[in-house]
Amino acid sequence: MRLAILSRGPRLYSTRRLVEEARKRDCDVAVLDPLQFSLMIADDGVQILHKGERFIHDAVLPRIGHSITRHGVALIRQFEQLGIYTSNSSSGIIQSRDKLRASQILAKNKINIPRTAYVRDLRDVEKAIDEVGGLPVVIKVTQGTQGDGVFLRHTLRESRHLVEALLLTKKAVLIQEYIAESHGKDIRVLVVGDKVVASMRRKSRGREFRSNYHLNGIIEKVDLPLEYEELAKRAARVLGLKVAGVDLLEGADGPLVLEVNSSPGLEGIEKASNVNVAAHIIEFIIEDHIFTDVDMAQVMRTQPGQGALSLHLRNHPRLIGCAIGDIFPRNDKSIPVFALSRDKKLEWNPEPHTQLRFDDVMIFYGETRALRSALKKVTYSNLPRQNENIPQDDSTSI
Ligand SMILES: Nc1ncnc2c1ncn2[C@@H]1O[C@H](COP(=O)(O)OP(=O)(O)O)[C@@H](O)[C@H]1O
Ligand SMILES: [Mg+2]
Repeated sequence: MRLAILSRGPRLYSTRRLVEEARKRDCDVAVLDPLQFSLMIADDGVQILHKGERFIHDAVLPRIGHSITRHGVALIRQFEQLGIYTSNSSSGIIQSRDKLRASQILAKNKINIPRTAYVRDLRDVEKAIDEVGGLPVVIKVTQGTQGDGVFLRHTLRESRHLVEALLLTKKAVLIQEYIAESHGKDIRVLVVGDKVVASMRRKSRGREFRSNYHLNGIIEKVDLPLEYEELAKRAARVLGLKVAGVDLLEGADGPLVLEVNSSPGLEGIEKASNVNVAAHIIEFIIEDHIFTDVDMAQVMRTQPGQGALSLHLRNHPRLIGCAIGDIFPRNDKSIPVFALSRDKKLEWNPEPHTQLRFDDVMIFYGETRALRSALKKVTYSNLPRQNENIPQDDSTSI
């Protein structure tokens, strides 16, 4: 396999370790600076040049620094368009780098996170603090890293001052529930593919509440409970990352996901856990690089007039309790029920006898105009007897 590691720091510990493990496995490996690529885009194809030469590698391992996220992600998108394997996708990197966006995706997938508010106006600070559970609160900027831009505030006055200063410098500001049980410590979990390969506990020194390794934190071995493992794997998965450093806080009611890092540092974790994490990453890529990811959202928008629609059962209470097969008969080809999203799972082609629940979301695929009119008809008529006494509602939201 010809592997390109995209990194600006060939001498950094993580890069060196990845190169070393790749060479041991007979990979032809090069460290390429993501800022030295040129991208050619045309409707009849795309091209990538590195220092004027054609790109010839089979797989890409991105290690994109925070300061060049925009450029790095554009480059990875180009690889994706060429069908070249990348161990983390452009969308995975972009959505995990923004703490607001990442929190929205994690929450949508019912993954425990600290309560979080995004504020744009000083007048909302007090309400936001109440919403997240009261003082003290953590205030942070959405794009920070290595503990930069993360603060603990104990009074409303101090919180307002800080938010004001951050807003003045055009930062996007989050006010977050402070997980006191986890003061000064967190757990870093390394997920590779669908496995947890290593973990460690990080602790701060002195009174510091941030446990980042780069802030001179202490690292130690940890025995990871299964619940923590499962949560870390799900967090990496829903954010679309195959190689991820997932940071967990130890809350009183179990683990919470704090953030997910797409280019996790290897030095601390290899030392603390005694695991050869670099080897796990390289072996995973050797195994995984045959297939490239599919961006289903994009695929479903390929043709005008075709696409996916969802129906949130909470907006259609008359359908709750009915079996899917009664309202959407299998032989009625106009409304193919594609999938059912329930709890933390997605069921493809759900069984006709499945009874619909309040929190379910049904997903359909097909000609959107036909789908819309068929769905409208179904949400008005075809009502099973037990629900007939519920008054008719004129509006449907499909
Ligand atoms: N809501 C919180 N409750 C308790 N500790 C927190 C909270 N948010 C952050 N921390 C501490 O601060 C550190 C840095 O915060 P984090 O959101 O991970 O920012 P960064 O991306 O800069 O690492 C965390 O590792 C954790 O120790
Ligand atoms: Mg962090």
